[in-house]
Amino acid sequence: MRTLTIRRPDDWHVHFRDGPILAQVVPFTARQFARAIVMPNLVPPVTNAAMAAAYRERIMRALPPGTDFTPLMTCYLTDGTDAADLVRGHRDGIFTAAKLYPAHATTNSGHGVTAIDKIYPILAAMEEREIPLLAHGEFVGADIDVFDRERGFIDRVLLPVLARFPRLRVVMEHLTTAEAVAVVRAHPGRMGGTITPQHLLFNRNAIFEGGLRPHMYCLPVLKREKHRLALRAAATSGEAGFFLGTDSAPHLRHLKEADCGCAGIFSAPVALQAYVKVFAQEGALDRFEAFASLNGPTFYRLPPNEQRVTLVEKAARVAENIAVPNHGDILPLFAGQPVDWSVD
Ligand code: DOR
Ligand code: ZN
Repeated sequence: MRTLTIRRPDDWHVHFRDGPILAQVVPFTARQFARAIVMPNLVPPVTNAAMAAAYRERIMRALPPGTDFTPLMTCYLTDGTDAADLVRGHRDGIFTAAKLYPAHATTNSGHGVTAIDKIYPILAAMEEREIPLLAHGEFVGADIDVFDRERGFIDRVLLPVLARFPRLRVVMEHLTTAEAVAVVRAHPGRMGGTITPQHLLFNRNAIFEGGLRPHMYCLPVLKREKHRLALRAAATSGEAGFFLGTDSAPHLRHLKEADCGCAGIFSAPVALQAYVKVFAQEGALDRFEAFASLNGPTFYRLPPNEQRVTLVEKAARVAENIAVPNHGDILPLFAGQPVDWSVD
């Protein structure tokens, strides 16, 4: 039975939602991670420092007593973002970063940025103040195939932004393709890339295995096997540009098992178990700490966590569902299935 003790990890990309879902999902992340970058795509989105401070308070109230967990807040960029508010919020320790959602790319992105040049003044202020830009890296357009959206974003948005703002630091969130891995590698120090457990464990066949699988639908959508292999090589390389970001994205079951189902996989209850499985399969357990606990803090210029966690190769069964009283339930990744690792 193998065991692995590492510094306590952080989740550099998570969705907590608000209201009744928030209270049910926050404890899962806080149990495994010391800090998390919290996504701002609420309804309405978290577009200013006052909203982010209030949201952070609601998250803190959802923590089980005695939990040591720090939510790191992000500002949802719109065509009309107030640069002064963003800069002040960052200076005051409310905002860690700002999130670019191209309009209509994903869940609650209707208020997102409609054309990248509309936020060039904001990006200039962020470059100046060293506020990282976190990008949902998909370009949406009638002429773009859904599986090519990430490449479209790299060509039409990311590379022009990197060229125009040479000191702006960018995280491309939830990498899904070999091209995205390459662009992170090509910009050491300036770029980071988060990788989700689902994009390491599954290719796009999983969405159609024996029928339509709504709980395997997320955005960016799962890709071909060759891309999954490129992501596994990147994550397990130990290279500084790649770090853990679950994109854990809870949706009520009835909103996923629907005519127009929501995108998102709720991985928080089994996040570390899912990632460590990949590192064990790749013979790279010695590099798990870099991916989970060191590379992210280095990019964000934060100290690594001092506490340790131990992962044990001991089978456990994942819950069938997580109840949200009076609203329904949420199915976690691997619902009702066994996993090989446990968190001690
Ligand atoms: O699958 C996803 N779900 N991808 C995203 O980009 C957003 C997220 C959500 O908020 O549900
Ligand atoms: Zn996300």
